Amino acid sequence: MVRALILYHSLFGNTKDVAISLATGIEESGVATECLSIDEIDINQIAKYDFLAIGGPTHMIGLSKAMKVFLKTLESVNLNRMKGFSFDTRNHSRLNKKRWFILENSAARRIEAKMKKMGITIIKPRQSAIVYGREGPLESNVEPSFQEIGTEIGNILIS
Ligand SMILES: Cc1cc2nc3c(=O)[nH]c(=O)nc-3n(C[C@H](O)[C@H](O)[C@H](O)COP(=O)(O)O)c2cc1C
Repeated sequence: MVRALILYHSLFGNTKDVAISLATGIEESGVATECLSIDEIDINQIAKYDFLAIGGPTHMIGLSKAMKVFLKTLESVNLNRMKGFSFDTRNHSRLNKKRWFILENSAARRIEAKMKKMGITIIKPRQSAIVYGREGPLESNVEPSFQEIGTEIGNILIS
């Protein structure tokens, strides 16, 4: 039985909702899926999953403090055989359209880079979900579209 784990950090609940949509889609493909906050997971249990998705809110164009700390802790686990995917929530950014602004406004970009460094095989490129303001709500199409992404990932995992 293929097992998937979705981990998220969420201050206002938006990233949690995205994580739940993703988990619902993966589960629909017949993959046993768990969805937990980074505060709830025992990191020694992570290696028993086949697939790990990590998502967080974009803070100061990168990772939230809690996610930074979590990813640092994760370095102590051997995840060489793991498949992975990263996602984030963020605002529509005018900064990304400025030609001088070379940094990508995305926590998922940082998460994906860390996952690759840990030896995790990325099976789908990172995805961002747009929220209005700091507290949300999410853009209206986000939840169905992440559920679809989940189904796509689930199908890859069982193929
Ligand atoms: C301290 C802080 C910094 C933020 N910095 C950014 C940012 O640099 N870029 C951006 O797009 N959104 C930024 N935001 C908005 C967050 O992306 C938004 O609050 C988050 O996606 C909501 O997700 P959550 O409900 O899971 O916390 C920031 C929010 C907070 C609280």
